[in-house]
This record gives sequence, structure tokens and C-alpha cells, in this order.
Amino acid sequence: MKKVTYNVSDTGKDHQIARKFDRDAESYDDSRLVKSYQRRVQKLVINRMKIEKGMNVLDLGCGTGQGTIDIALRLEGTGNVIGIDLSEKMIEQAKKKLTDFKYDNVKFTAGSAGSIEHQDYFDYVFSTNAFHHFENKESIFKKIRQSLKQNGVFIVQDICDDYFPMQLLDLAGKIGQKEHIGSMKSKELKNLLLTTGFTDVEVEKLKINWFFRVMIGKGTKWDD
Ligand SMILES: C[S@@+](CC[C@H](N)C(=O)[O-])C[C@H]1O[C@@H](n2cnc3c(N)ncnc32)[C@H](O)[C@@H]1O
Repeated sequence: MKKVTYNVSDTGKDHQIARKFDRDAESYDDSRLVKSYQRRVQKLVINRMKIEKGMNVLDLGCGTGQGTIDIALRLEGTGNVIGIDLSEKMIEQAKKKLTDFKYDNVKFTAGSAGSIEHQDYFDYVFSTNAFHHFENKESIFKKIRQSLKQNGVFIVQDICDDYFPMQLLDLAGKIGQKEHIGSMKSKELKNLLLTTGFTDVEVEKLKINWFFRVMIGKGTKWDD
């Protein structure tokens, strides 16, 4: 697997977010929210990906790595799957899942989404439940595009700020958490995909339960 280094900056919001998720890491997989909502939407995203053997896939903001592992299983040990997360403790939890894992096509790395160094390497970059924590979204979208092969696909799911309950959630985050960055409206996500050079851009909006509304955005890298 190609070796890369990612820097976890020790100041600013990235640092605060990393420490927040460090605190959550040990009990993360047992949380009711994660089990009942996040895993469900993660599966919706993965089911929309056309995974073929030999593909290289990046999971951005992978947390404890469940989505990364699911992709590795679909690849049946072929290709390379990389999970990146700011929080070293989340990465520690993810690595525990590799202890008895039957394939060696997975790598977990602590690092920021803003320091992706790959070029023309991934068939898919995906991200679930994470982008509202990402600062400098535009520059991260550009890096993601750079990291994709020609015809590679970026697929991103997050809460959708078009809906009042999600706006309330965002507001609560702004008031209550110093590390809060913010969620996007579907139009913002679509514009971001288009302005950072993706083609075949689509944004789908989904109702998950009585409260959660999410969106799944997709764009392809195609250089003429
Ligand atoms: C709510 S968790 C979601 C984890 C996983 N994707 C899932 O669906 O269960 C968000 C994750 O994004 C990570 N994160 C936040 N900002 C990040 C950044 N700039 N680069 C990489 N990871 C980041 C956090 O550390 C956290 O583990």
C-alpha cells in the first residue's frame, strides 16, 4: 500500500475536533445514535457505490472504521482501502477491528482530510456523517478531486440543512460546542461539487426517521 503521512495540526478547530472525538472514541460504537442512525445511513451510501474488485477506496473521517471495513469486505481482500480520521483514539478503535480481520487490504491513518497527498489514485472517495465537522470544505473537495483517478467518484453523505430540525441541530452545535463548524444545504453541496470541478453531480435528499434528514452528494472526476 502506498505510504503517506498526514499531519494533525495541534492548534485551531482541527485540534479541538480531534480531542472531542478522542473523548468519544471508546464508547462510540456502543452509542445508540451510532447504532440506530449512523450505521444505517452509512449502509445507504455504501449500497450506492459500485464496488469492484481491485479498487482503491478512501474513507474520509472514518471514525472507528466500520464503513472502511465494510468496503474491504466487499473488495474481498483485493485493492486498497484507507480510512483517515483526525482523532488518534478513533483510529486506535478502528485498528482493533483489524486484529482478527481476514484481509490485509485496509489501512487506518490519523490525519486531517485537508492533507490528502494522493494523486490520481482512488476509484472512490467516500465520507459519512463527517463533513459538518470539516473546516475549509472547498479546499478539501479540491484535494479529493486530485486524489481520484479519471472517472473516479466522490460520494459524500451528511445531515441536510434544508430542514428545520437539522437547522436546529446546527444551531445547538454553534451555541454549545466551540469546535462546531456547520452543516450545508443541498444547494451549497451541489455548488461546491460543481465549483471544485466535479461532473455528473447529483444530490439526493433522504428522510431517515422522524428527525434526521440527510443528503448524499455525488460527483465524478473527468478531465478532458
Ligand atoms: C461523526 S464521526 C463519523 C464517523 C464515521 N464516518 C461514521 O459514519 O460513523 C465524524 C468523524 O470525522 C472526523 N473528522 C472531523 N474533522 C475531520 C477532518 N478534518 N479530517 C479527518 N477527519 C475528521 C472526526 O474525528 C470523527 O471521527
